[in-house]
Amino acid sequence: KAIESTPPLADLDRICDMQEGRMAGKIFWDSEIYEQELEKIFARCWLFVAHESQIPEPGDYVATTLGEDEVLVVRQKDRSIKVLINACPHRGNKVCFAEAGNARGFICNYHGWAFGPDGALRGMHESGVYEQSGFDKSRQGLREARVDSYKGLVFATFAADAPSLADYLGPMTWYLDVILDNDEGGTEFIGGCIRSTYECNWKIAAENFVGDILHAGWTHDSAAQAMLGGSVTKVSELPESYQVNWNGHGYEFARDLVGNAAVLGESAINKYLHLHSPKAAERLGEFRARMLGAVSSFTVFPNFSFLPGQNTVRVWQPRGPNKIELYTWVIVNRNAPAEVKEKWRRGAMMTFSPTGVFEMDDGENWEYCTKTSRGKVTRYQDLYVGLGMNSRLSDTELPGNVFRGQLNEANARAYYQRWKDLLQARTWAEVPDRNGKLD
Ligand code: FES
Ligand code: FE
Repeated sequence: KAIESTPPLADLDRICDMQEGRMAGKIFWDSEIYEQELEKIFARCWLFVAHESQIPEPGDYVATTLGEDEVLVVRQKDRSIKVLINACPHRGNKVCFAEAGNARGFICNYHGWAFGPDGALRGMHESGVYEQSGFDKSRQGLREARVDSYKGLVFATFAADAPSLADYLGPMTWYLDVILDNDEGGTEFIGGCIRSTYECNWKIAAENFVGDILHAGWTHDSAAQAMLGGSVTKVSELPESYQVNWNGHGYEFARDLVGNAAVLGESAINKYLHLHSPKAAERLGEFRARMLGAVSSFTVFPNFSFLPGQNTVRVWQPRGPNKIELYTWVIVNRNAPAEVKEKWRRGAMMTFSPTGVFEMDDGENWEYCTKTSRGKVTRYQDLYVGLGMNSRLSDTELPGNVFRGQLNEANARAYYQRWKDLLQARTWAEVPDRNGKLD
């Protein structure tokens, strides 16, 4: 059944005007906005659920959420992947309480309904009673989401009218390949999933990764000096850097920083990237091979982000207007030497984990960006999102909407414009295509 579409909010133009490059803090605090986001963004968009390497064998599963809907991502016997709602269709009890594992099926604790790994209802405690009531087992399975994957990354959506995943990601896959396809062995997640919470709105975190390198040289400078032995690379002095966006997804990157010591810090990684660079160039071409290890970050709309240089991958799971649960993993090339993988894991822990120095810097800023908006006056204060207006490059072969310079808010504007467009649309068909029409 289709998810009911509630009418759009009346003051969206007042609180988000990206042609003017301004918005209001209300978008980070309001519970009515949050309810609309769950319906029109999280129940509608393709959301990242797992890396295929987390569930290699039939019966392997991980638990995650699509917005606040709890789901299980399960490898099937035929090696396909299903995403099933983790809620029993009898009274709604959770059918799996573990975060990951291998199971022959899932049995509900309440009245004993038992489901196969494919979500089909196989049997019930006191099954005779059901037979007497003309019960149709085949109509009572765990609800399935649409599933598709891109080079190891598995996405799901409950929206029947959503475009295909390929159309949803569009030309941004060309950039995703820098991390996902620079080696023939592909990628894998190593270590477990780290879960932590922040009292901030999910958008401020996702926006930070869509294109806010501006904060890094200021927010993270002391941590970089203390932990990595030098300041964060001064992006304004780099000869060549870009922001690129498409339908709310955004990537910012510089080039020619392979093995940037101040950013990566770990010599084994630098060495690996230098040695690997020619091989990466064979697969990706010179341009993208020189993006490896550079100061860059990426958000796939709405809440899936990663830092290619640091190899951390994260999902900003919404848990109310002013709370997120952050799921973090470390992604590496499957064929990289064990020593390099371990350096990447430790590097990510040192910088972008709940105990990492950069994560703490960011978390505090995001929490206050959110909390100040609880004030009735502050909530409507104009927030400036105007950096880099008119910086769009028209004479480039690069895919997507390309902007000059990383110190730019072009990606943030495109991100919030997509957010607004989705909140205004009642169906996918009503979501406008603004590529090339913003900035
Ligand atoms: Fe699951 Fe009743 S709620 S069997
Ligand atoms: Fe940061």
